[in-house]
Amino acid sequence: MEFKKVLEKRQTIRRFKNKNIPEETIREILELANLAPSAGNLQAFKIIIIKNDEIKKRIPEFTFSSQDFIAEAPVVFIIFADLGVSAARFNERGRDLYAIQDATIFASYLQLAAASKKLTTVWVGSFDEKKVQKFFQTPKNLKPVVIMPCGYPKIEAPKTKRKKMEELILTREHD
Ligand SMILES: Cc1cc2nc3c(=O)[nH]c(=O)nc-3n(C[C@H](O)[C@H](O)[C@H](O)COP(=O)(O)O)c2cc1C
Repeated sequence: MEFKKVLEKRQTIRRFKNKNIPEETIREILELANLAPSAGNLQAFKIIIIKNDEIKKRIPEFTFSSQDFIAEAPVVFIIFADLGVSAARFNERGRDLYAIQDATIFASYLQLAAASKKLTTVWVGSFDEKKVQKFFQTPKNLKPVVIMPCGYPKIEAPKTKRKKMEELILTREHD
């Protein structure tokens, strides 16, 4: 798919077809996302891939508001920032910033890679980190950054607006 089209296709759709994603497609989008840059090339993140229905059903319990659509997706990724890995090289800045950026950039690439395969993803950020860590029994240095259901969209994407570029550019003094 043309890159521009991929960017346009990456839209949040919270309804999924009852259709599994082939294993090789999951592997391919993860490999594509793994092309993401990371601080010191440390790739300070970890992923959990959830396909088990019983476990998927539990995930909405971790969110702050009702987000039951998560359990309807054939696959749910949870992406964790590995604070320890980044801190070991970059100290405070690694722990407080780079690890989270590494995980976030990976997640963003994953959304685009999924879009290129006609899949939709939802970036779910509204959840209780501690509940996720407890349920999956993950080490303390792994900070869950995003829960990302992924599947084939059941409906058209709702229209979303963007601010005008003029509102986003802070100053033109330096043009
Ligand atoms: C950091 C972040 C947190 C988000 N958290 C949630 C969330 O908890 N639940 C949800 O349904 N969507 C969430 N979203 C998705 C946004 O609502 C969505 O990206 C935005 O409305 C723009 O729509 P679009 O993705 O279709 O362009 C989140 C997105 C980001 C980047």
